[in-house]
Amino acid sequence: MLPCCDLILKNLLMPDGLISDISINDGYVIHSGLSEKSEKVIDCSDYICLPGAVDMHVHMRGGQKQSHKETWESGSKSAVAGGVTTVVDQPNTIPSITNAETFTDRLNEAKKAAFCNFGINGGVQHDSRIDEMYRAGALAFGETFFAESSYGSAVDAQFLKESFLKISKINALATIHAETVLEGVDDSLFNHDILRSQQGEAEAVDLVLKTAPSDLKLHFCHLSSPLSIERIHKRSNTTFEVMPHHLFLSTEMFGEKDGKAKVNPPLRHERTRQQLWEKWNDIDVIASDHAPHTLSEKTSYEFHSVPSGLPGVETMMPLLMAMVIEKKISLNSLIQKTVYNPSRILGIESSGYIKGCKGDFALYPKKTAKIKADLLHSHAGWTPYEGMQGVFPDIVIIGGDIVYDKGEFYRGSGRWIKGKGYIANKSK
Ligand code: DOR
Repeated sequence: MLPCCDLILKNLLMPDGLISDISINDGYVIHSGLSEKSEKVIDCSDYICLPGAVDMHVHMRGGQKQSHKETWESGSKSAVAGGVTTVVDQPNTIPSITNAETFTDRLNEAKKAAFCNFGINGGVQHDSRIDEMYRAGALAFGETFFAESSYGSAVDAQFLKESFLKISKINALATIHAETVLEGVDDSLFNHDILRSQQGEAEAVDLVLKTAPSDLKLHFCHLSSPLSIERIHKRSNTTFEVMPHHLFLSTEMFGEKDGKAKVNPPLRHERTRQQLWEKWNDIDVIASDHAPHTLSEKTSYEFHSVPSGLPGVETMMPLLMAMVIEKKISLNSLIQKTVYNPSRILGIESSGYIKGCKGDFALYPKKTAKIKADLLHSHAGWTPYEGMQGVFPDIVIIGGDIVYDKGEFYRGSGRWIKGKGYIANKSK
């Protein structure tokens, strides 16, 4: 008998507690309930099966100058092995993405190597051509640096206002890195936290909110403190993300001068980390801010010269799945923040359990394991979560194709996710 779908996920435990089969064909879920027929069937009885996660904040590096930190191949393998089936790449590359030409070069680099779905954002800086990048297929704009960071120079409030107007005119999403940086000696994690303080982040959030036209779709990147979160929900059309490193790491866990833990916005004190968890229900999106730098770059310089950023795309879902298994957060809330909400905010098709959703899934075993850098795939070669508990997927599926199976990668149907402004061959 001829198969009538590409893949069946059998005996899958749905978040509502029912057991169901999911049939996937031509990249999409075509049926949820009793199974169709297929030559390929995976029994999911021993797994927790999640729709593929969307990590809307990664830095895949690559190009001539940064491939030692990460490439599209190593970064997307890292994503897939961590249950992330779609990544959104940030434009602070070398060269940065500011026009149709740099955008298209980046796109071609990704298309050749990516193992997962990907979107690419357009950069917002003084020489940026926003309309041109929108037509070339930029998914969103930013992260715009309202405070300088690794590979990103700060823009001022007037420029931000003008850029926001351009972005709202085309009805695109603006994403923003909001911080305030004080002058001072940046020589320890303690001082890094003071110079880029929680209060400063909250004040930057206020200023950005004041600057944004009311109809702008605005998304705040990596909020690190409850102070900032409390400011956000006053404006409609506004969402924000929180990173695993602000939820799982604090300054107290590292030596005072340990550059490995340097990141912007900084790690906060243990008390703030715990308070951030109390905001779990308010958080729209969890994203990784995967910002790989090699171990040697993170350990060979004086603290003030160490590049900021932590690798994290492969450990985001595993860390959070461990919290699910320990019953500290619900599976539903995790799926909202890592699948449905980022898809809705970006305006892209979502993976999911029902007919019409993208057929991207990750099958997680029901037990935790120790996170070990040796088992991860980023060129960074280290992880700030060494020794912590995680749940890594055994099998990952994109569009009905198995792209990862217990350590082995297969090229499947991972593809470019275009922004809504895309016009073929008309980017100029
Ligand atoms: O710590 C950071 N590193 N924060 C950012 O916003 C940029 C990132 C990077 O690209 O390395």
